Amino acid sequence: MIIGSIKEDLSLEKRVALTPDAAKNIIGLGLNIIIEKNYAAHLGIKDEDFKKAGVEIKNSSKEVLETCNLLIKVNCPQDDEINNLKEKTILIGMLNPFQNKNKINEILKRNVNIFSLELLPRITRAQSMDVLSSQSNLAGYRAVIDSIYEFEKAIPMMMTAAGTVPAAKVLVIGAGVAGLQAIATAKRLGAIVSATDVRSASKEQVESLGGKFLTVDKNEDMETSGGYAKEVSDDYKKKQAEMMQDALKKNDIVICTALIPGKPAPRILTENLVKLMKPGSIVYDLAAEQGGNSAFSEPGKVNLIEGIKVIGVKSLMNRLPITASSLYSKNLFSFIRNLYSKEKKDFYLNHEDEIINKTLIKEI
Ligand code: NAI
Repeated sequence: MIIGSIKEDLSLEKRVALTPDAAKNIIGLGLNIIIEKNYAAHLGIKDEDFKKAGVEIKNSSKEVLETCNLLIKVNCPQDDEINNLKEKTILIGMLNPFQNKNKINEILKRNVNIFSLELLPRITRAQSMDVLSSQSNLAGYRAVIDSIYEFEKAIPMMMTAAGTVPAAKVLVIGAGVAGLQAIATAKRLGAIVSATDVRSASKEQVESLGGKFLTVDKNEDMETSGGYAKEVSDDYKKKQAEMMQDALKKNDIVICTALIPGKPAPRILTENLVKLMKPGSIVYDLAAEQGGNSAFSEPGKVNLIEGIKVIGVKSLMNRLPITASSLYSKNLFSFIRNLYSKEKKDFYLNHEDEIINKTLIKEI
């Protein structure tokens, strides 16, 4: 069985699905790998590094697509690539199926088995394959680094002969995977950190990282059985906005990470709330591409509103593509290991397996 991978559209995506380390692990399962030449040259990874791991290099993406039994990608393939996919190929990636309905339908018509890893169940057995966690974790880290870069003051408290510099205050909205990493990173850099979330379970997690949890009084259960947040009521929104008024006046940097699966990001910071912040403050909106948690946030833009910088994030993983690729390729390896039967020497689409069943796209 042959695994293939081709270059991504470099104008949009710097991550790769395969690293030499992951290639070694996949080959260790008894599989062969082929990739297009100069596959990860933009990350400083040479074809030679892949060859050393046992990977075969092909001259074109067409050759890879026509030969492989299983294609691993970061994003959904492009139209010309879809045309070269042969029947019965397996495709695995972060395919964003609801945004790419037309492409996914085209691929399904070609009788290709499509797995989209964003659909993985959040169960213990799937943790090593969990692309949302591996990438969100990095997003939370990078959000802090980027906002601190934009912030024109120091972060930790410093007592110097010239006087004392107060510690900066960071508020994290949404304490899921990205939010918790943002809290940990901001704490490490010396900030005073607080956070809020609709899920009661997150209070303990925030506090265990040394953050202060800002609670909104509520009578509703805000968590789904899958551990995700529900859309909040108007009453909750009102109470959350009241709580924010005070918090925003005090904080220097606000990192927004709140999401609701399958829905636009909740709008938490209205125009009036943003304007309560001090000039020089930062709003860093990780949810910008999903509609934004904050007013004034636009993907890929830094908007200056009355001295407050509102940063809308776009393609954040392109700022640390080497680490993101390394984790993503490990996620893929774990997924492939679960899909491949060493006895049958073939991929086994066991529909009884929750991981396989939930990620396989049957129709869209
Ligand atoms: P996410 O990316 O969907 O959302 C981020 C955070 O925003 C969540 O914590 C959510 O509660 C919060 N949020 C949504 N609406 C909000 C609002 N209006 N105001 C404030 N906060 C709001 O979530 P993520 O990071 O994917 O995590 C979801 C859950 O899955 C978490 O409980 C996490 O611990 C859990 N998880 C479990 C794993 C497992 O294998 N057992 C692996 C990874 C995550």
